[in-house]
Amino acid sequence: MDSKIIDGRMVAGQIFQKLKDDVSKLDKKPCIAVFLVGDDPSSRIYVNMKKKRCDENGFDSIITQLPGDISQNDLIKQINKVNKNKSVNGILVQVPLPAHISEEAVIEAVDPQKDVDCFHPYNLGRLMAGDPVFLPCTPAGVIVLLDYYGIHIHEKRAVVVGRSNIVGKPLSILLLSRHATITICHSRTANIREETKKADILVAAVGKPNFITSDMVKKGAVVIDVGINRVEDPDSKKGYRIVGDVDYDTVIKKCEYITPVPGGVGVMTIAMLLENTLRAYNLQNIPTRI
Ligand code: GUN
Repeated sequence: MDSKIIDGRMVAGQIFQKLKDDVSKLDKKPCIAVFLVGDDPSSRIYVNMKKKRCDENGFDSIITQLPGDISQNDLIKQINKVNKNKSVNGILVQVPLPAHISEEAVIEAVDPQKDVDCFHPYNLGRLMAGDPVFLPCTPAGVIVLLDYYGIHIHEKRAVVVGRSNIVGKPLSILLLSRHATITICHSRTANIREETKKADILVAAVGKPNFITSDMVKKGAVVIDVGINRVEDPDSKKGYRIVGDVDYDTVIKKCEYITPVPGGVGVMTIAMLLENTLRAYNLQNIPTRI
């Protein structure tokens, strides 16, 4: 049964090791500036995890914590400062942002050459055109996992449940670029089970615990769980535990491969973020068209 489990921690560990070796040969450390606005506990945990991986692998990180009531203009001014700072290679603004700030306006303020999240419309456009500068982190992490386990993508029917700008849409484009036939499902999809049951590769990125049940999965499918959801758990010290979007215990009995949560896609996102930061460093130090 264990052979079904896609081990994201192991794959990410190998990527971190390679990044650490590559970075140790550089004159300077690649540097990422991270903005955390407000005090959302999940965002704080994610940002701390990013900082820890930077420290472990020879990257510099500058974490700027800003008050939740900062104005959009003041946040954009701070971003402009790091846009101009030559010693910063990558910029990441943790989302979600407080409701009074336009995420689109803030993302567009980031210099596309430093947009290591690949959120900027310029970079999304380049991705769509098949000539990406950066690959979006979570979607790229999924593709790396599929490749690592020798799971063929071309000619497969891939169903992505979720249409976010961070995961669902860009992952669909990446799967398409690898010659899969794509269906994107979302909250208004009629008869979603009929769609998911056709999937050779089923991706869940909806943010709802246990959304994908075994009756929605074709026997022998590859199931990729991008969800990171907190559910109450009185037996746990913290009072909660993290689960994905897939009803893991039943789906694992039916599928060929599955990513666990935690230990699947999540850690790959950070590995891809550091890859993008190193890529940004190289692009900024070797003159070329981005
Ligand atoms: N919030 C949740 N995931 C992400 C991510 O990959 N990047 C940023 N900037 N914010 C996030």
